[in-house]
Amino acid sequence: MAEDRLHVVFGTGQVGIALAAHLAGLGLAVRAVSRHRPSALAGVDWRAADAADPEAAADAAKGASVIYQCLNAPYTQWPERFPPLQRGVLAAAERHGALLVSLENLYGYGPTGGRPMTEDLPLAATGIKGRARAAMTAELLAAAEAGRVRIAIGRASDFFGPGVTAGSTLGERVFGNALAGRRADFIGNPSLPHTYSYVPDIAAGLATLGTDARAVGEVWHLPGPATGSTRALLDLVASEVGHPAGIRSLPKLAVRALGLVNPTIRELAETSYQFDQPFVLDTSKYQATFGPAGTPLADAVAATLAWYRTRTSTP
Ligand SMILES: NC(=O)c1ccc[n+]([C@@H]2O[C@H](COP(=O)([O-])OP(=O)(O)OC[C@H]3O[C@@H](n4cnc5c(N)ncnc54)[C@H](OP(=O)(O)O)[C@@H]3O)[C@@H](O)[C@H]2O)c1
Repeated sequence: MAEDRLHVVFGTGQVGIALAAHLAGLGLAVRAVSRHRPSALAGVDWRAADAADPEAAADAAKGASVIYQCLNAPYTQWPERFPPLQRGVLAAAERHGALLVSLENLYGYGPTGGRPMTEDLPLAATGIKGRARAAMTAELLAAAEAGRVRIAIGRASDFFGPGVTAGSTLGERVFGNALAGRRADFIGNPSLPHTYSYVPDIAAGLATLGTDARAVGEVWHLPGPATGSTRALLDLVASEVGHPAGIRSLPKLAVRALGLVNPTIRELAETSYQFDQPFVLDTSKYQATFGPAGTPLADAVAATLAWYRTRTSTP
């Protein structure tokens, strides 16, 4: 593979794989990097590297003109283990003079009292993971401000889509359950507006940030399906599967009790506000700059269910 104008995607998880495939579909030279070879990565070069090792990260990114950060650390160890991953990728981007496009979630904002999130909101989170995320953003912005690197940050909300099973509110416990005739597991108020992002839209958005010079130096909220309530989304799931998709909602007390024995559930308490008040991502800045984007919700739900139906035969 020619090692110039190369797009290097760090992370071959739920978004990294989709992004690598999207970039390859645009005819770009793509390399994906993670520690373990992913099973589904057709037509894309792959290298093994530990991103927390700056030398290894820089070596894996040799020839990159754009580097995408789609890494993640274990949910219960974000403050200790996530920043070193980003630092490795940042070092690689600096070494090669590559644009660094970083995917973030919305934890850094913290609760907004239901106010829609725009890019100019302060990163005011006080929880452990929210503070860790905000500190990581600050590191990126400081590196860019010091002229060490060019960056573009893309933020997305809880995501769903083909290939998304665990690590998301809208994974196995919603789509898998619906197909199996079981109710969806959901903690919070399903009647409130909640933005859900769709993985193929996130991939397309990140690719825009990596290929359009107008993106450089800024934070962008990535468009997805129009925001409605969680219940409205579940109604679409129900109409697709042909039977009601009810909700099995755990009472808060039970969640707290489960948190005593399950560290991941305990960690979820920090972000429970996202499901107790409207949680709306304003993506108008992106759309005003790059044009309308985002898959219609019904199409996104149908494609996700189609993947869930065939996934046993998916390589
Ligand atoms: N989950 C959501 O709903 C959501 C919503 C919005 C934004 N986000 C954000 O999106 C980003 C990506 O999340 P995701 O859910 O796509 O991640 P994911 O599926 O957990 O994938 C993480 C990837 O990072 C790789 N990785 C971890 N440690 C590594 C290391 N030391 N060196 C190299 N690679 C390493 C993993 O591969 P190996 O283990 O093989 O190395 C894996 O491919 C995160 O910043 C997350 O906060 C998530």
